[in-house]
Amino acid sequence: MSKRARASRRPVTLSRMPDHSGSPVLSLGVVGIGSWGQHVLAAFASTPRCRIAYVCDRDASTLALRAAAHPAARAVASFDAVLSDAGVDAVAIATDAPEHASLARDALSAGKHVFVEKPLALSTSEARAVVGLAERRRLKLMVGHVLEYHPALRVIEGMLERGDLGRIYYAYSQRINLGVVRQQENAWWSLAPHDVAMICRLFVAEPVAVAAQGQAMLQKGIEDVVFATLTFADGRLAHVHVSWLDPHKIRKLTLVGSSKMVTFDDMSVNEKVRVYDKGAECRQPMAAFPDAVTVRSGDIVIPKIPGDEPLRLECRHFVDAVLDGGPIRSDGAAGVRVVRVLEAGQRSLSSGGRLVRLSDVG
Ligand SMILES: NC(=O)c1ccc[n+]([C@@H]2O[C@H](COP(=O)([O-])OP(=O)(O)OC[C@H]3O[C@@H](n4cnc5c(N)ncnc54)[C@H](O)[C@@H]3O)[C@@H](O)[C@H]2O)c1
Repeated sequence: MSKRARASRRPVTLSRMPDHSGSPVLSLGVVGIGSWGQHVLAAFASTPRCRIAYVCDRDASTLALRAAAHPAARAVASFDAVLSDAGVDAVAIATDAPEHASLARDALSAGKHVFVEKPLALSTSEARAVVGLAERRRLKLMVGHVLEYHPALRVIEGMLERGDLGRIYYAYSQRINLGVVRQQENAWWSLAPHDVAMICRLFVAEPVAVAAQGQAMLQKGIEDVVFATLTFADGRLAHVHVSWLDPHKIRKLTLVGSSKMVTFDDMSVNEKVRVYDKGAECRQPMAAFPDAVTVRSGDIVIPKIPGDEPLRLECRHFVDAVLDGGPIRSDGAAGVRVVRVLEAGQRSLSSGGRLVRLSDVG
């Protein structure tokens, strides 16, 4: 076992109280309980071995509204109040993206394990600083790449591990809808973390370069739509299209392999994953054969996907990892990987689509 893996399995020290069955319980503070944070709060509240000790939001009406459902938790406007309580083991941060890194650093400095929403930070250097602090303090750090916990993604990963799809040629994704229009980040930073995280996971690699173009129509300098191409070291490509100004609601990833092709359609209720037995073979040398290309179009298989909610799986993974000392799937390193791609994409966007190498991002 590597030094890193040993460290990730090290038991952690908690100030927790055991529950009625004698099992240790994680005492958690949730900060930022707005549109998404309310779901994070509800998911942690229903997670075994987790007790919501604090709900925190600086907006008084949001705090009053959401705290009502958690009478056993203390409702506070100040994050410092959560951090200064030695009885709190961990915090979940679901505030606006520009504050993720600084709040995560504050929490780690106060000795708390951290779950932080995506993106981990708005720059690679900031993201690395958070990860470095977590490592030095030997605290758990998890980034909310919720689709990494989607049962459909796990099913596709299994297919890839078994070689069912053959060699992956390329991938593309669309995450588009009308709204939510954000003011502090563009559609790339808001929506693409999910696709970048999934693509890196499925390609078992991170891209070496990004070229992105976008358009800011509603607010000056904040792109509403982005088209980005990720290039991998072995020549594979992935294309990511994100927008919050589109008539369609699409959340779909397509992988094209040498043996089969697969789609993950998160808008579909019963057919989230479709596996197409489709492909093409070329006889060589092609010029010697009039029918050199054979196209195969076979069955479409729709595997059964467990109905578990990704956010609940994600929250449970965090609680289990802290209490039992196991590794985290979307850990700080995964968070940095995604932020690096986002930063390269942002530099490309700002230069009108120039190819930006990740090595230039740092
Ligand atoms: N994983 C996902 O699928 C997913 C989906 C949507 C949003 N998100 C992420 O969740 C985060 C929150 O998004 P949202 O749509 O809920 O935003 P929001 O604006 O609705 O909520 C943010 C809340 O945080 C509070 N807040 C901000 N800074 C604070 C501070 N320092 N102390 C206390 N409270 C503070 C605000 O008052 C607000 O209530 C964003 O980073 C976003 O990227 C993730």
